[in-house]
Amino acid sequence: MTLSSAFDRLLQSDQPLAELDALIWTTLRGGAESSQHPWNLGAFSTIDPRDASSPHPKCRTVVLRHADPSRHAVDFYTDVRSDKVRQLSAAGSPAPACWLFYDPASRIQLRLDGMAEVIDGQQADDVWQQTTADSRASYLSIRPPGERVNDPQPPSTADRFVTAEESERGRQNFRIVRTTVRHADWLYLRRQGHVRSAINYDASGGIDAFWVVP
Ligand SMILES: Cc1cc2nc3c(=O)[nH]c(=O)nc-3n(C[C@H](O)[C@H](O)[C@H](O)COP(=O)(O)O)c2cc1C
Repeated sequence: MTLSSAFDRLLQSDQPLAELDALIWTTLRGGAESSQHPWNLGAFSTIDPRDASSPHPKCRTVVLRHADPSRHAVDFYTDVRSDKVRQLSAAGSPAPACWLFYDPASRIQLRLDGMAEVIDGQQADDVWQQTTADSRASYLSIRPPGERVNDPQPPSTADRFVTAEESERGRQNFRIVRTTVRHADWLYLRRQGHVRSAINYDASGGIDAFWVVP
């Protein structure tokens, strides 16, 4: 079922707002489970506080890896040496962050605002054990991501093609970034009238869903 047909069905139900939370999280789980899903990729934004007098937003594409409906949390994986981790840490992890998903086929956008934390330790160990050799290559560069180089093929690229045993050194760079969602904004651009709805999630798990002028 497409996102728009699922949402059309919800709009026709007796209590659409009561079902919105379930639809959002079912859809996010779908995004985390399939690379074919329109929400498998999202844009993740942070605030770069490097220049305290004018903090500015930074945005990048990441893969949605996990969605937890009970904790209202979404995860992606990254390299601890990346700028985004520096930005989150500088802002005092957990730090304010925003995710954006868009499905062009359904013309549905979902924006998630929340607090993002960088996770290491046993939780990262457990996820690392499940990663494939291909995905481990992302964490094996000798030089840190974002560093300026003189060539399109950084010298460290060759180091990424290694045995499973050698790939273990990528673990020190591997982190989970988990965003606990505080606000979701769902916008459906529809020919017969746009529809926008939102949910506030409070810290104790309470949910307040409402309609918004599109
Ligand atoms: C399709 C696609 C998927 C990506 N997935 C991830 C990801 O899951 N995690 C990640 O850290 N970077 C991912 N990236 C790279 C980021 O978009 C970004 O370029 C990189 O992480 C550096 O960002 P930063 O300098 O803001 O830290 C992806 C890029 C593309 C094009």
